Amino acid sequence: MITLDVQIEEPVTFVIFGATGDLTRRKLIPALYTLFKEGALTSGFSIIGFARRDYTDETFCQLMEDALREHCRIPVDDPSLKAFCAHLSYHRGDISDPTAYTRLMQRFNDEALPPNRLFYLSITPDLIETATHNLCESGLITPAGGSPWSRTVVEKPFGHDLNSAQNLNRILLEHIDESQIYRIDHYLGKETVQNILSFRFANTIFEPVFNRTYVDHIQITAAETVGMESGRGAFYDKTGALRDMVANHLFQLLCLVTMEPPDGLEAKSIRNEKMKILRALALASSTADHPSVCCGQYAGTETAPAFREEERVAPDSNTETFIALRMEINNWRWAGVPVYLRTGKNLAKKTTEISVQFKTPPLSLFQHVACKGDLCDLTGVEPNTLIFRIQPDEGIFLQVSAKRPSMQLVVESVDMDFSYSGKWDKELPEAYERLLLDALRGDSTLFTRSDEVEAEWEVIDTIFSGTKECSPKPYPSGSWGPMEADALLINPSNGWKNE
Ligand SMILES: NC(=O)c1ccc[n+]([C@@H]2O[C@H](COP(=O)([O-])OP(=O)(O)OC[C@H]3O[C@@H](n4cnc5c(N)ncnc54)[C@H](OP(=O)(O)O)[C@@H]3O)[C@@H](O)[C@H]2O)c1
Repeated sequence: MITLDVQIEEPVTFVIFGATGDLTRRKLIPALYTLFKEGALTSGFSIIGFARRDYTDETFCQLMEDALREHCRIPVDDPSLKAFCAHLSYHRGDISDPTAYTRLMQRFNDEALPPNRLFYLSITPDLIETATHNLCESGLITPAGGSPWSRTVVEKPFGHDLNSAQNLNRILLEHIDESQIYRIDHYLGKETVQNILSFRFANTIFEPVFNRTYVDHIQITAAETVGMESGRGAFYDKTGALRDMVANHLFQLLCLVTMEPPDGLEAKSIRNEKMKILRALALASSTADHPSVCCGQYAGTETAPAFREEERVAPDSNTETFIALRMEINNWRWAGVPVYLRTGKNLAKKTTEISVQFKTPPLSLFQHVACKGDLCDLTGVEPNTLIFRIQPDEGIFLQVSAKRPSMQLVVESVDMDFSYSGKWDKELPEAYERLLLDALRGDSTLFTRSDEVEAEWEVIDTIFSGTKECSPKPYPSGSWGPMEADALLINPSNGWKNE
């Protein structure tokens, strides 16, 4: 009998830069608390929050306790809350002040803190150079492969184009070895994302048909129903959907669903295969009938503002809040198979899913019916579609044709479902829980390597090149984006999934 629970065997001090910020309150502290409660942090650990605000240990702990009550729905008298908060302390300092780091180093000696260090840079990219320089100068970063170890987690964005990504990598690598850098993309911590690899390579039945002979096209959609959460307008107006979502999340999903089988499950093997896809990835050529890019921007309704009316967004902003792309992968397996990517704000449904649509059978032997209640229509043969649903209702679904019960020989599309909630009643771990645990264990498989980041930006830079921006078409909030996105589909009768 083996146990599937994971424990961190080495004591560790976790230092969060940006500890008074939104990400710490909403994601990092709740994830660490859950790991603690689940027994993953059994060996000694300490969590130090680093920020400028004039807090004491007590005020910081109270703030984190409030955050946990808000985000983890914990009973008021839960003893684990106090036990967890006993591991928290605050370190007041400015990232640009070298003495803040010497004081931190001093604390490692004076307070007998666990010597292994995990630095979490939950700060804006403009502060990363100063933070890593000061961490290195103060001796807090230990040599790669040594003991005690030190690791540094870097939050996205990893640049906004190839140039800035190369610059950020140069800064990081000047001070820290690649093996000690963990660039976090929380999408990769989601259970279904990890299941893509298991599904593809732990089964024999799908892999033989995952190629240009059988696959008609692939669609990857990440749709949000929200517009600008408070305060996000300024950031988003500078960033847009392409850089915010496609450059990392969507490209990473695309890599996992199309990469070749790795020769092992270690970080290096998987990252090498992802790199091959990124090198072969390109925007498909536009034709008169089928453009390969469509940008949109949400218009207002009676009750909700248009993007240009959002707080801290320029009234004449041309930033895209929706983008659809037709991409191609120029390798042996996928040549000629369109890969459609689509993401946006204020869309009809919150969903992230990958659908792999297979070709239709060469001969239409059966009549196909599509029914809504008792009303049925004869339709063309529905192709098989394999859907990886990342969120919500995580699961994998295969659409196949089956005979409809009746005196006639007609077939109808039915779903073969595997949903996590149907198979296991245990709640799925939050992405940050999984990724923090991996960083604590030194497993970088689900983190992005420097060359992957640069290869992603290299492709992104070609998408708006020449035009700089893409004249977004207005779309009604709550819709699936501008109608012009339909023209991207080489075979429009297939339609966008989810609609
Ligand atoms: N929030 C999210 O959901 C989310 C998701 C993905 C990625 N991210 C990324 O994560 C990073 C942090 O995001 P956030 O939303 O938590 O930002 P935030 O709420 O604005 O927090 C920024 C933090 O940085 C600290 N800080 C700023 N300047 C500092 C300085 N000179 N010295 C010391 N501390 C300083 C602030 O603390 P003081 O003011 O007290 O110094 C605050 O704790 C950003 O890069 C963001 O893009 C955030």
